[in-house]
Amino acid sequence: MRISVIGTGYLGAVHAACMADIGHEVLGVDTDAQKIAALQDGHAPFFEPGLEEILVRALGSGKLRFSTSLQEAAGFADAHFICVGTPQLPGAAGADLSHIEAVVDGLAPYLTRDCLVIGKSTVPVGTAARLAARVAELAPAGAAAGLAWNPEFLREGFAVEDTLRPDRIVVGITSQTADVTLRAIYASVLELGTPYLTTDLPTAELVKVAANAFLATKISFINAVSNVCDAAGADVMTLADALGHDTRIGRRFLSAGLGFGGGCLSKDIRAFMARADELGVGDSLQFLREVDQINTGRRALAVEAARDLAGGSFAGRNVAVLGAAFKPDTDDVRDSPALDVARTIRAQGAVVRVHDPRATYNARRACPDLDYVEEAVKACEAADVVLHLTEWREYREIDPAELASVVRTPCLLDGRNVLPLGEWQAAGWTVRSLGGAIR
Ligand code: UGA
Repeated sequence: MRISVIGTGYLGAVHAACMADIGHEVLGVDTDAQKIAALQDGHAPFFEPGLEEILVRALGSGKLRFSTSLQEAAGFADAHFICVGTPQLPGAAGADLSHIEAVVDGLAPYLTRDCLVIGKSTVPVGTAARLAARVAELAPAGAAAGLAWNPEFLREGFAVEDTLRPDRIVVGITSQTADVTLRAIYASVLELGTPYLTTDLPTAELVKVAANAFLATKISFINAVSNVCDAAGADVMTLADALGHDTRIGRRFLSAGLGFGGGCLSKDIRAFMARADELGVGDSLQFLREVDQINTGRRALAVEAARDLAGGSFAGRNVAVLGAAFKPDTDDVRDSPALDVARTIRAQGAVVRVHDPRATYNARRACPDLDYVEEAVKACEAADVVLHLTEWREYREIDPAELASVVRTPCLLDGRNVLPLGEWQAAGWTVRSLGGAIR
């Protein structure tokens, strides 16, 4: 099928490459000419394992090309995926829908024949119905230009795998034709036995935000429990393992530590609360305020623990921060807990040196005041405290005895509860964690 994918941020770039990989003819569209030129040359605008390989393959096969023209997209494709961002509004909890509205207003006037516009962006419930009406009003094809909602559940770091082998496909549709089109688009994915759920537009929109709200709640739950573990001398990681064996609970998203960040969970729970308020049911999601507060509280807790390790004050102290990305295997620093902690500690008087295997470029742009170094060991030279804040694999391979010889004071805070703290202790380190016992 001929498909256009509009928006080449995280979601769009991955979706375009993956759709071409499964055999469709794809046109990726973005208003950013520079990004389009880079993609056309086979360069992804961000680090995502496996993406560049399938991008290059798709470009080479002639199945994928890029453009800045919505008019071209309308002429080319039978299905148009909208993948633009819906960030948090500045100074408010709700989502900024200006990009998605601009796409619909820009594309619809060129839709002169049967086609399906498919929203993938995360939106407040009710948006899809409004956009469907807008498409019908602006498109010369009228009702022959339909709209469906197909939320995306991919995780950064696993985006290609999650797109090619998703654990479910959810489609909000209002016609049989939309169902037929979507089944044809995802035919090869459905052949793998992927569950395919059809529903109405509002349910599809809500599935996405409810999923992210649940994941955020799970993380904040374990982080709240970890405070109790800390107070009682218990080990939250073993506790999580034990809980996880209950298949009704499951172990995933029960890793206590510095909490969640990134471009999705925080902004989505806030937008969910804002939308529930508008619908007059804000009280029902009151608990998400607590989830958000528990999460941001983790960052304050990490700063406090680091200050304790530094002897009660950061003045004149060198602090090494291992990790700047919001999680491993990405260069994304949006709402990164690690960077947030680093920034706060610097504001409190420490010299902060940050290392990240991939995210230094983005981190420097977001926080130019911090010092960035190319090697983890360099960040730790003459450090009074080492903070492990993003759990990249390479940090687990650090030899604590070797690192002890470069720091000024061997003090470690493991903000992600994955380092073998017993080994660090044996190598002479004073160690702290956020809820984990010393193993
Ligand atoms: C999240 C969801 O997991 C995806 O399903 C969703 O599609 C995506 O948002 C989105 O809405 O686009 P992502 O933001 O890539 O994906 O990151 P996650 O893997 O969910 O991690 C989010 C944060 O939670 C990270 O900062 C991570 O370190 C933290 N986390 C995760 C924990 O603190 N503890 C855990 O046990 C798991």
